[in-house]
Amino acid sequence: MDTIKDKNVLLGITGSIAAYKAAEIIRLLRERGARVYPVMTQAATHFVHPLTFQTLASRKVTVKLFEENDEKISHISLAQLADVVLIAPASANIIGKLSGGIADDILTTTALATRAPILIAPAMNNVMYENLLLQENIKRLKAIGVSFIGPEKGKLASGEIGMGRMSAPSQIVEYLERTIQSKDDFQGKTFLVTAGPTREPLDKVRFITSFSSGKMGYALAEEGAARGASIILISGPSLLEPPREVEFYSVESALEMHEKVMEKFAQVDGVIMAAAVSDYRPTMKEAGKIKKSLKEGFALKLVQNPDILKELGRKKRNKILVGFCAEVKNLEREAKKKLEVKNLDLVVANDLTLEGAGFGVDTNVVTLIDKEGKVEHLSKRSKKEVAKGIWDKIKKLMER
Ligand code: C5P
Repeated sequence: MDTIKDKNVLLGITGSIAAYKAAEIIRLLRERGARVYPVMTQAATHFVHPLTFQTLASRKVTVKLFEENDEKISHISLAQLADVVLIAPASANIIGKLSGGIADDILTTTALATRAPILIAPAMNNVMYENLLLQENIKRLKAIGVSFIGPEKGKLASGEIGMGRMSAPSQIVEYLERTIQSKDDFQGKTFLVTAGPTREPLDKVRFITSFSSGKMGYALAEEGAARGASIILISGPSLLEPPREVEFYSVESALEMHEKVMEKFAQVDGVIMAAAVSDYRPTMKEAGKIKKSLKEGFALKLVQNPDILKELGRKKRNKILVGFCAEVKNLEREAKKKLEVKNLDLVVANDLTLEGAGFGVDTNVVTLIDKEGKVEHLSKRSKKEVAKGIWDKIKKLMER
């Protein structure tokens, strides 16, 4: 892979003992043909002398915001020339400053002035990493599109075992390659993504629904848009804010979702049905409110909703169709059945019994099964990361 060949990588190095690992990162980046511009914070210079990085990068290391007699390298020129900004190791301090929009040194100023993607590899003591303020700062940065890799659990500089060790240089460089490669790879394509639950009304005040939060579908919409696709997001009721750059439609019931999806289908290159569409709806729909005076109770009769995805499968032609499959047992068997019956290109299977998978949570554990029967397990990761994996897989399917 030579995705980073001739790319300008701005490597920010901050004050952590893991700073020595940045030497290996520079070596790996240069081996792949990238140009590395090292930028160090003052604190980082206490751990490793700039000369080390200067020698490895064959380039002057920038440390000061205001360098005398040096007009060429300023924070603005660095910010403009960077194809990607990688901060590794990133201390709690730099993460806090970036999340607060502070720009008081060359690295923070450059990060604030760039349009290039920013990747952060944190490294710190486990107590610092678990601190709620730090976690809030990470969340804020993620919300504006900053990517994080690691940290990992392992032996820390203090001798303790805990969460906070910087990811391995090889992993960081691989992640960076994937980030650069995936930028704009869906340019010119339009995808429809459905998300969230549906509400099937019983009367004016009650409805049947599921625990779906919409998180997986919204992450897919956001990631697709970030990779250049035009995204139409059709969502059932969700508390989430729709990503800014998508065409958004809010629906309530499965019938409404069905109608909207069918209306938009002709104009898209593919559909990802991440919505937890209710399979049934009540036959009765009381105009007012069901009274509690029905002493004997009452039987609730349900009828089947249209299977939106199955209908799309019948008219799909060369469009890409991705379905979700949430099960509590026989996951792979059920998923393969769905793939066939609904005529899908890809099914994303969720085992609802696993910790950190399925409805409501921020993470997911999924198995991707394509129409050729290829099975790929993605271990537990954030829904954003799962979304990346799903789009990567769609890309491969489209290339075929
Ligand atoms: O058959 P099952 O409901 O398990 O299939 C799940 C997949 O089908 C999901 O992708 C879901 O969005 C979609 N679906 C649908 N219409 C329904 C029920 C599910 O499109 N009525």
